[in-house]
Amino acid sequence: MSIQNNLKQVTVTQIFKKKNQEKITMITAYDALFAKIFDPFVDMILVGDSLNMSFFGEQDTLSANLDQMIYHTKAVCNGAKRSLVVCDLPFGSIKTPKTALKSAIKIYKQTKAQAVKLEGGLEVVEHIKLLVQNGIAVVGHIGLKPQLVRLEGGYKIKGKEGIKSKEFQKLLEDAQAIEEAGAFCIVLEGVSSSVAKELTQRVKVPIIGIGSGVDVDGQVLVWSDAFGFFQEFKPKFVREYLKGANLMQEAIKNYVEDVKTGRFPSKEESY
Ligand code: KIV
Repeated sequence: MSIQNNLKQVTVTQIFKKKNQEKITMITAYDALFAKIFDPFVDMILVGDSLNMSFFGEQDTLSANLDQMIYHTKAVCNGAKRSLVVCDLPFGSIKTPKTALKSAIKIYKQTKAQAVKLEGGLEVVEHIKLLVQNGIAVVGHIGLKPQLVRLEGGYKIKGKEGIKSKEFQKLLEDAQAIEEAGAFCIVLEGVSSSVAKELTQRVKVPIIGIGSGVDVDGQVLVWSDAFGFFQEFKPKFVREYLKGANLMQEAIKNYVEDVKTGRFPSKEESY
C-alpha cells in the first residue's frame, strides 16, 4: 500500500460510503508523534481510553477522565492532518444524554476531533440522538465493552452461541438502534466471527471490528498491541506487526553502553 499524499481530511460521509466497497482501517494513537506516523496510511485514528492502560499503566480504562482524553486528542490532532480523528467518551462522562452532550461539546470545542465514540447499545440511544441532533458525529461501540470490565468480571467474548442465540438478538437490536439514532459507524469488539458477519450484513452503517473476525467492514487495533509495545498480555486477536518493546530494549541497551564506555557522543556529535 502506498502513502496517501492527498492531505484532504477523510470525512464521516466517506467512511460511511466505504461499506461494501472498501475495508476501513483504524488504529489508536495518543500523541502527535505517532499520529503523524500513522496518518498517511489509515482512514481513522481513535484516541481510545485504552490509553489509560497502555500509556498510563492502569489495570483498566475506567479511571480515564474527559480532560485526559481532551489533552491526548489535541496532541493527536496536531499530528494527524488527513485521517478522521475520533475521541473516546470515557467512563462516567455519559451518565445521561445531557451529560454526554456536555462532554462531547467540550471535546468539539477544545479539540479538532471529528467524532466521538461511546460504549453501549440500547441504553445509549437517546444519548446518540441528542449528540447527532447537536451536530456531533458519533461512533457506536458494542459487543465487549471494556468500560464494563468490573461489572462483568473480566473481558468476555460475546456471541459464542452463534446467530440463533439471545445474545445475537441483543447485539442486533443494539446495532440497529444505534444506526437509527444516527451513528455513522460502529466498533464491534470481541464478538464471534459468525455473529459479527451476520450483524455486518444486517446494518447499513460500517462495522469496524476488533477481535471480531474478518467478515466486517474494517478493523481497529490498539497501536501498542499491534506494534508489540504493550507486554502485560496479548489477546488472541492481536497480530504483532513489530517487536516494538524488544527493539526499544536493544536500542536503550546500546545507548547506555555507549554512554558508559564513552563511545557517545563522538567528535562529530559534539560542538
Ligand atoms: O479504547 C480503545 O482503544 C478502544 C478500542 C479497543 C476500540 O475502544
